[in-house]
Amino acid sequence: MRNYSPSITTMIRMDHTHVMAAFHRYHADTPWWRKRAIVELACTALEIHAQLEEEIFYPALEIALPGDDTLQKSKPEHDQMREDIAKLRGMGPDDAAFDARFMKLMREVIHHVADEETVLIPTAERALTSQLSTLGARMTRRRMQLVAQKRPAAIAANTVGTFPLASLAVVSLGMLAVAYCLRPSSTRRARRP
Ligand SMILES: [Fe+2]
Ligand SMILES: [Fe+2]
Repeated sequence: MRNYSPSITTMIRMDHTHVMAAFHRYHADTPWWRKRAIVELACTALEIHAQLEEEIFYPALEIALPGDDTLQKSKPEHDQMREDIAKLRGMGPDDAAFDARFMKLMREVIHHVADEETVLIPTAERALTSQLSTLGARMTRRRMQLVAQKRPAAIAANTVGTFPLASLAVVSLGMLAVAYCLRPSSTRRARRP
């Protein structure tokens, strides 16, 4: 049966776009409570994104591109990102080093994303053409599990409020809705009670 899921590379690009949008909301003079919300949201989205890539995207690429240099350094870059996130979570936004630490994380992520978007994703779209939708469906299913695990922490960090809550959850739910709507109507009808 044909798979109507969005491709895994479309999902990865969308994740990158949402994280970059969160970065653009962060400024040195942003109120501390808003900084906290932005950072927690960006960090949670990055953790989920990195785990999805490591579980689904990178292994598929490893088969298509064994030993590729950009691919080999991707996992260590995720590990560095996780270290930075752990340090950020141990600091308050009123800590003098908080801005510098988050700026460092942003620079590293921007560099990493540039490598993925200029090297890994175009390569995947050439080498994995027939698998992209199947991998996308796997990513959507796994994302829902990870969002369910991470959501309580993200919500707790956003209780102060005005930051639009959990765009990562909205994105994942939106992607599920897109996948659902793109399925053949006969399939949708069959699932109704
Ligand atoms: Fe990555
Ligand atoms: Fe990525």
